[in-house]
Amino acid sequence: MIRSVIRGVGSALPRRVMKNAEFERIVDTSDEWIVQRTGIRQRHIAEPDETTASLGEAAARAALGDAGMDPAEIDLIVLATSTPNNTFPATAVEIQERLGIRHGFAFDLQAVCSGFVYAMGTADLYLRGGLARRVLVIGSETFSRLLDWTDRTTCVLFGDGAGAVVLEAGEGNGSVSDRGILAASLRSDGSHKEKLFVDGGASTTGTIGHLRMEGREVFKHAVAMITDVVESVFAKAGITASDLDWFVPHQANKRIIDASARKLGIAEEKVVVTVDLHGNTSAASVPLALAAAVADGRIKKGHLVLLEAMGGGFTWGAVLLRW
Ligand code: UT7
Repeated sequence: MIRSVIRGVGSALPRRVMKNAEFERIVDTSDEWIVQRTGIRQRHIAEPDETTASLGEAAARAALGDAGMDPAEIDLIVLATSTPNNTFPATAVEIQERLGIRHGFAFDLQAVCSGFVYAMGTADLYLRGGLARRVLVIGSETFSRLLDWTDRTTCVLFGDGAGAVVLEAGEGNGSVSDRGILAASLRSDGSHKEKLFVDGGASTTGTIGHLRMEGREVFKHAVAMITDVVESVFAKAGITASDLDWFVPHQANKRIIDASARKLGIAEEKVVVTVDLHGNTSAASVPLALAAAVADGRIKKGHLVLLEAMGGGFTWGAVLLRW
């Protein structure tokens, strides 16, 4: 059977690093509060010349370099983002153009913080359906442009960045020892829409709007929703938490990551954490963490890796794969 195998991974971050202390001059907060409540110490913030397209292109080029592939070998680009360069066309098409690709197709996928996990699940179907051979899956965001910089309950939490993987159709025997994506589980429930949203849009206000969040409410649901989809992929693949080599969760809050790992019975040393360095980069957070753990040699060929995310919508999902 066809398996969607990761051939390369890469990431890109804006030049400017913003430490927690800088927020003390903007809003009524402290480095101590931010570290204690979230685990975040710094985030990268895009400069005017850095956009979702430019960061996504840089991450895609890094992933292609890691795979030893040329852009011409890619036939589909799926970009997970909630911060497109323009309302349309899709920023994926702009990245396609920047990479000099004139064949195949490209589209954006919008599932907020769960975007990369949704994009992996979607790309897997195109590969297994024979509609593509090599897919660039990118998560790229510039959430700094959606923030209300006077709202201390949200502006300290988010950052900008991009991560990407190259997926290629490979052969497997259908067992859990195959390389590639082994199981995916995606969920959404729009009844939670008001708890995390942007108060603008093309069809309503005609403006971009600002991010609004009832943080405590999101926190309350996060762990249960994460464990729900993770247990679903475990059941589909016939594995348990102890079989995992690495857990690469969405990086929103260190307390949510710790509570989820604890509830799932995943040992602390198997958890990849980058929230301290990047903050919450929405759809970019999982591939940024993945790229970091591959670059420093933690994730190796043959390892069993679990990706998970939860965010606005609510949307939530998990993908289990063998590196
Ligand atoms: O990407 C997926 C979606 N996002 C998330 O997963 C985020 C989920 N939520 C969270 O991570 C947490 O709820 C937050 C980090 C947003 C907040 O942490 P919390 O422990 O839930 O704090 P809280 O909202 O209950 O607020 C506690 C206090 C409040 O003051 P009072 O009412 O107790 O006097 C807030 O006004 O902390 C105050 N507060 C702050 N204080 C200093 C809120 N933001 C700040 C701040 N600095 N930046």
